[in-house]
Amino acid sequence: MRLISSLRKIAIGRRKNNAVLAIRTLSTKSSTSNKSEKKRKLPDDGITLSHFTQSSQHKSVKKEELDFGPLPTSAPLGLESFEHPHRVLKFHLKTYGCQMNVSDSDIVRSILLDEESNISDHQITFQETQEEMDADILLTNTCAIRENAESKVWHRLQELRAHDSKNPLEQLPIVSSQDENEINDHDSRRLPKKKKAKKRKRIIGVLGCMAERLKEDMFKDGTADLIVGPDAYRDLPRLISALAPQPVTSSGQLHFENPMMERALNVELSFDETYADITPVRSNPGDVSAFVSVMRGCNNMCSYCVVPFTRGRERSRELESIVNEARVLYEENGVKEICLLGQNVNSYHDRSESAILTNPQVSEEVSSTKYKAGYNTSNDGFSNMFRLRGGAGYYFVDLVEAVSNISPELRVRFTSPHPKDYPPELLSLMAERNNVCNHLHMPAQSGSSTVLERMRRGYTREAYMELIDDVRRTIPDVAITSDFITGFCGETEEEHEDTLTLMEHIQYDQAFMFAYSMRGKTHANRTMEDDVPEEIKSRRLQEIIHMFRTNVQLRNDEHEVGKLRLVLVEGESRKSKEGARTWGGRTDQNKRVVFPSKGQAPECWSEEAIRPVLSALSQSYPSNMNVMARSDMLHSFANSPRVTVEAGDYAVVQVDQARGHTLKGKLLWRASMQGFHELDLEQSGPDAIPLFNAMA
Ligand code: 5AD
Ligand code: SF4
Repeated sequence: MRLISSLRKIAIGRRKNNAVLAIRTLSTKSSTSNKSEKKRKLPDDGITLSHFTQSSQHKSVKKEELDFGPLPTSAPLGLESFEHPHRVLKFHLKTYGCQMNVSDSDIVRSILLDEESNISDHQITFQETQEEMDADILLTNTCAIRENAESKVWHRLQELRAHDSKNPLEQLPIVSSQDENEINDHDSRRLPKKKKAKKRKRIIGVLGCMAERLKEDMFKDGTADLIVGPDAYRDLPRLISALAPQPVTSSGQLHFENPMMERALNVELSFDETYADITPVRSNPGDVSAFVSVMRGCNNMCSYCVVPFTRGRERSRELESIVNEARVLYEENGVKEICLLGQNVNSYHDRSESAILTNPQVSEEVSSTKYKAGYNTSNDGFSNMFRLRGGAGYYFVDLVEAVSNISPELRVRFTSPHPKDYPPELLSLMAERNNVCNHLHMPAQSGSSTVLERMRRGYTREAYMELIDDVRRTIPDVAITSDFITGFCGETEEEHEDTLTLMEHIQYDQAFMFAYSMRGKTHANRTMEDDVPEEIKSRRLQEIIHMFRTNVQLRNDEHEVGKLRLVLVEGESRKSKEGARTWGGRTDQNKRVVFPSKGQAPECWSEEAIRPVLSALSQSYPSNMNVMARSDMLHSFANSPRVTVEAGDYAVVQVDQARGHTLKGKLLWRASMQGFHELDLEQSGPDAIPLFNAMA
């Protein structure tokens, strides 16, 4: 039993029948069985190991805490071959939290569904199921950013445990060789007749940030059996195989021994794990937009934020592997929009050997662009906690450029950035390229310079406002969005007022607003007091929500209503119903637009039909055009055949209404991104609108 012997080697903390497999060190190499186990010296970047570990140190596990109760007895298995028994285990995966978690879940899915390596290494085939009670393993990918995110997870885990004990899985008893065919010929989960079934419990696993933050505390009260942090997903098959009953054959009989382990944990953080070689298995493969993870971790150490402790240090994936993944999504999977994803996405810096060779550091004197000589923050008012900036390799602007080069018809977005990492080169690229979306997330967090200082954000209110001015000057039609925290430690009414006035001044296109939630391990937790009472936090939160809503309405009424917007169609909208069908999509500015459709698929003009009309309009129609030519043109336009649009098409929608940050409009024509920009609607669009109204 190769599997068993290899597991015995890695088992630590075995205790009579109750065993725990635990890996919880911070290492400079990835948690994998990996090929490139290069040891890396840590750079002197102003961040020390203690930033990540000092407060993440947890008490050593007490003996009684490891006493998790009796082991589950042996378990039912899907058996494909008696000689080489391998288990078929079903997993259910639920994801909480940010887009990064959604993307990580796609990586987890890929690791578990990789039959080849799981059969050869662990003799297990995993299958995904959407039904919780159909699963052997219940995985929850978790978020730790605020307390209420964690409360939801605790609640879910308790519910899962309760459901599991009410509906335990049935298990196979000892199987003799004459039973074998019966198992193979039918559903592998059915019991051979006549033998009495026993019950077994499911494996409950916690993944992600909460697993990393709470570590073995999540084992308490039997809440979870498996704890795996964000950098240890490659280890999942091995950990699960240790928790699953072990098949053993002897004298023509197959039976199941107790699992190797009672509990398993790997919360090792890595300095170089990016899962670059894993092709994510997307939960919604039909979506027209896909997230591609480009970097992990965060070095910023904002004083309120737990992310650096749960996600570890910043590390960037090689540019080439990102471009390859994006190209395959575009060329083979029908994806039209790539969203580059990372905790601190615009501090991306690929320092791999090939990046350094291709993009060597150029000294300031000989460099024509200051940027290539090293790293620039957004403007002089921004500072960096992280000293290791600049030098050779690829930066975020190089990455955006490379992905946008895949095709002029592929849209590129990114999230989630920090305002300090918007050097002028990035803004210029966004202004120049039609396929890099005109949307910038600029998480301000507060409008007060004193709060920003306590938050350790590295900028003042003034520097931030100056940056927004630069952005709007460089990219006139840009949408700006933000995150805000209200009621941070020591926040006064005046400081809160500063946030309100900043919001009023900037008029955000979208904002995500939160009441401050103190998180263990953070700088604020160690040095400040969470002294704003809950009722004041929530009153201030209501005030900033109100300020955002009022201003987004004003902004959209002024900047959106009447415009012709290029929309990437996502499909029929959720609120669509018989008799009042609606479809929806997103504009370049990332605003959701819904538009009515009469039939199954919305009908509109084609780009070919609209082109001559718009070009006539841009050449000062109607004054210069004779009446005959004009009526011929309009006649042929009116009679041109209609086309339909489907998810993944670009279409031009005339916005006629704004409801908060959602827009409503009229579908006009199916477009290509290049065709739309060639038409130069700044010129002909406004004149065309009465025409479209008359023809519609
Ligand atoms: N309390 C409240 N909100 C927080 N965020 C991060 N940490 C906290 C916290 N402790 C918010 C920030 C961040 C967003 C993802 O979550 O606004 O940008
Ligand atoms: Fe948290 Fe600040 Fe890093 Fe964002 S930039 S993940 S808020 S530490």
